[in-house]
Amino acid sequence: MKLRILSILGFAIILASCSSRTDSRDAEMNRFVDELMARMTWEEKLGQLNLPVAGDIVTGEPRTTHVGEDIRQGKIGGLFNLKGAAYIREIQRIAVEESRLGIPILFGMDVIHGYETVFPIPLALSCSWDMKAIERSAEIAAAEATADGICWTFSPMVDVCHDGRWGRISEGAGEDPYLGSRVAEAMVHGYQGNDLDDPATMMACVKHFALYGAVEAGREYNNVYIDDYHAFNEYMQPYKAAVDAGAGSVMAAFNTMHGIPSTGNKWLLTDLLREQWGFNGFVVSDYTAVEELMDHRVCATLEESALQCLQAGLDMDMVSCGLLQTMDEAKAKANAKAINAACRRVLEAKYKLGLFDDPYRYCDTTRRAQVMLCPEHRAEARRIAGECMVLLKNEQNILPLKKKGTIALIGPLANTRPNMSGTWAVAAVPDRYKTIKEGLEDALKGTEAKLLYAKGSNLMYDAKAEAIGTMFGREMRDPRSAEQMKAEALRVAHQADVIIAAMGEASEMAGECSSRVNIEMPDAQHDLLVELAKLGKPIVLVHFAGRPTVLNWETEHVPAILEAWFGGSETADAVADILFGEVNPSGRLTVQLPRHVGQYPFSYRQMTTSRRNDEGEFNKFITCYADVSNWPLYPFGYGLSYTSFDYSPMTLSSSTMPMDGRVTASVTVTNTGEYTGAEVVQLYICDRVAKGVRPQKELRGFERITLAPGESKEVQFAINADLLGYYAPSVDANLAPQWTIEPGEVEIMIGRNARETDMRLLTIE
Ligand code: BGC
Repeated sequence: MKLRILSILGFAIILASCSSRTDSRDAEMNRFVDELMARMTWEEKLGQLNLPVAGDIVTGEPRTTHVGEDIRQGKIGGLFNLKGAAYIREIQRIAVEESRLGIPILFGMDVIHGYETVFPIPLALSCSWDMKAIERSAEIAAAEATADGICWTFSPMVDVCHDGRWGRISEGAGEDPYLGSRVAEAMVHGYQGNDLDDPATMMACVKHFALYGAVEAGREYNNVYIDDYHAFNEYMQPYKAAVDAGAGSVMAAFNTMHGIPSTGNKWLLTDLLREQWGFNGFVVSDYTAVEELMDHRVCATLEESALQCLQAGLDMDMVSCGLLQTMDEAKAKANAKAINAACRRVLEAKYKLGLFDDPYRYCDTTRRAQVMLCPEHRAEARRIAGECMVLLKNEQNILPLKKKGTIALIGPLANTRPNMSGTWAVAAVPDRYKTIKEGLEDALKGTEAKLLYAKGSNLMYDAKAEAIGTMFGREMRDPRSAEQMKAEALRVAHQADVIIAAMGEASEMAGECSSRVNIEMPDAQHDLLVELAKLGKPIVLVHFAGRPTVLNWETEHVPAILEAWFGGSETADAVADILFGEVNPSGRLTVQLPRHVGQYPFSYRQMTTSRRNDEGEFNKFITCYADVSNWPLYPFGYGLSYTSFDYSPMTLSSSTMPMDGRVTASVTVTNTGEYTGAEVVQLYICDRVAKGVRPQKELRGFERITLAPGESKEVQFAINADLLGYYAPSVDANLAPQWTIEPGEVEIMIGRNARETDMRLLTIE
């Protein structure tokens, strides 16, 4: 007992000394910023709020800025999407040595899923359900980016999305807010570490606040029409989780909420983010979003737009230069409070990053040589990519393949290097990555297997449409006719024992401004696959996609399908690892795959309707379509393994629970197959009667376990009332929904995916 008290005391002392250290650091920071701001002119203060683009990577209209001169005049607070420590060092030198106050610049970048070592696209990463792996990917991204001059990343993107038409679904963690929240925390911890003092960590920027994933009809840059109840229960939680995890900055979204663009939305940026959630970092706009208030027609001039955003709580203006261009000293003085607050927040970020101690701390070229694309990082990226790919189908255990006989590799994605990293890999160096063909060749070296290759088709018949999906150096058009290419592929396939078809989307068919209404296999590839299937040989489809796609025909006719997404720089080796059984697939879908694009918006978190339809099929006067099932083709949480897992019936330690109590839900999982494999055990709930309409099923826990053949493990989920809560509808229209726990019956479910669960009833008293 004494020992316990001593250790509690010890812990309390450590906590107290940590918090007093933080307090004294904050006090030092405040003193420093006070002194600095006392010496700043209004123009210099406005300069800190200014974030022009200076690199080659632009996501809007490029702007020519007189960067050097503007820096000297103190008109720039940060720059983004520049690459290279030496280059960045020189720009920093101008700021520090040639501007009046020598305030260092913040260098940001879209480091979305890795730097030169590229990890799977975020949607794929989430399919690992492995928070340690996700955190590690962000940690490695930070180690590399910071060795190249970058100290601030525009990531994580935590927008929940229920619409596969939206191309940016590739950048988030899928459709579930609970899983999305865990991923958001892991990413923030990975980027920022325990302390931004460490020069191998960088500041995170949570985006796009808020609700960007709910753009109407999945069309990019569209508006969002959603009520607070659904906003809070379905979309807001990951932003809050990232803020609670300590994210240093937040990016406002392009879209509207409550009819007001997020960038100029005071309720969002101040009332909710700062006052209710306690966020104390800084808020940056998205690319030209400040001036886009004029496009939205809520402001008539740039001055009005900039002012509305400033008053709403925006601190930094990306690209529009709104305040700097429109404010003279008199106007600035009239808005002194807001300008001072914003300038302070930007300076605090620089202070926390250690830029005032050493403005060149992220420009250490020796560190670059040690960490960039180093073998350790590549090995981690390969391992993690292997965890993200989802085995959708494996009839007659075609996979894993034996390294013998003749293998035909066919498809437009089989021999393309730049497409493998996936969208938004700004710092990628594709020349140093392998194609699928090279990955398979390496895996088969020294064996008797023979690998044949034919491209087989272009991505699609229409060259113009293909060009849209292969922008930014990913072009792959073959000048041969479709007939010539198909004939060659069939010749090659004839000689083979097994066909590997590498097909699907090119990397830029998803990502920003890549909304699509046709999400089926592109025409030329579909036709080729039909011809290959006619040969009657075993086919493995290695499918590339940056979004959920419709795979009806493929599911019916192709015996094995691996959803490879885009696996990053090590895609090729990771695919080979899975195909030849070095790695047992363990990814599980974090978006369900639809049967038809018309099902969108679509999520397993279907709110319980009246005239509910449990069969999912047509039935007059209940909720359904006349021509397609309600269910997905592949459900949320789904994925196969080379081994099989058996679930025992689930148990609850008690069927009742007081409000302040706790029960345990358990299940024993046994590996009944022949391979060691990982399984993701999932906990879902459904509140039987609540004040607000609740989803039929919602994820509230998961555990990824690895079992050897024959091995069993009991997986336990601790359940308390808080875990079962939700944002109840508010009776007062001025109040946001509040996290609420209601007594009554709750279905507790455990299973291998959202469609296959076992259920016990729990009564909260
Ligand atoms: C995107 C952001 C990105 C920014 C800067 C915008 O178009 O929406 O996600 O961070 O560009 O590149």
